[in-house]
Amino acid sequence: MAILEKHKILETNATLLLGASFLVVTIGGIVEIAPLFYLENTIEKVEGVRPYSPLELTGRDIYIREGCYVCHSQMIRPMRDEVERYGHYSLAAESMYDHPFQWGSKRTGPDLARVGGRYSDEWHVDHLIDPQSVVPESVMPKYGFLMNREIDAEYIEDRLKTDAMVGVPYTSEMIEAAKADFAAQVDPFADTEGLLERYPKAQVRNFDGQPELTEMDALVAYLQILGTMVDFSTFQPDPAR
Ligand code: HEC
Repeated sequence: MAILEKHKILETNATLLLGASFLVVTIGGIVEIAPLFYLENTIEKVEGVRPYSPLELTGRDIYIREGCYVCHSQMIRPMRDEVERYGHYSLAAESMYDHPFQWGSKRTGPDLARVGGRYSDEWHVDHLIDPQSVVPESVMPKYGFLMNREIDAEYIEDRLKTDAMVGVPYTSEMIEAAKADFAAQVDPFADTEGLLERYPKAQVRNFDGQPELTEMDALVAYLQILGTMVDFSTFQPDPAR
């Protein structure tokens, strides 16, 4: 009872209550925020996660430009229904090089965080040209025009530099090789040793089946890498976290 009596002093004095509330919130805030200034990194590094190759990054820009994120999220929550449908839940590290991230809050279509490797390139091309030809009840718009839009690597060095500015570890070697890597990834006959050393697991092929390098190639290259960088057969969460 005595403690309630004491509390009554606080509760019946607005100024005192305000002051005390402020003090409590300040302490709570400091406890939460201060460590962030000392921690080198709040994201646990995970083997396999690497910056996007120049072609994948271009595809990602097209994905954002076309507003695919309006209907598709890229974050699998650690709930059973999601994990059974989409695969291992998303790790923070898997989007650490995403600027901006594509987590999303709306799913008119399915989550795409692990769509890489789930379908063939041909399926993606057919689906993007005419979604209803593959999934008759689909409400997804048609993106066939991407087949006719040729792209080159004119600004790719600047694009990589921009991401490097916000912390993506693109090295000067990667930036120098960006134009060559961009072209090599769609050329099955190119020398891809350097590309694969810089971007392990990058898939090299003609993605849209046309001789021209188009926006469709870049977008499909991006879709096919999604969720495939981490090898979940060997992945172990850091027990110290
Ligand atoms: C108006 C909402 C909408 C937009 C915008 C949209 N989609 Fe979809 N998407 C859907 C729906 C609905 C489905 C499920 C039916 C189907 O497969 O077509 C889907 C399915 C997909 C699938 C198959 C996923 C799976 O696991 O089966 C892929 C891949 C995909 N979309 C990619 C894209 C890309 C890339 C873009 C942007 C160029 C895009 N979508 C834009 C609604 C949308």
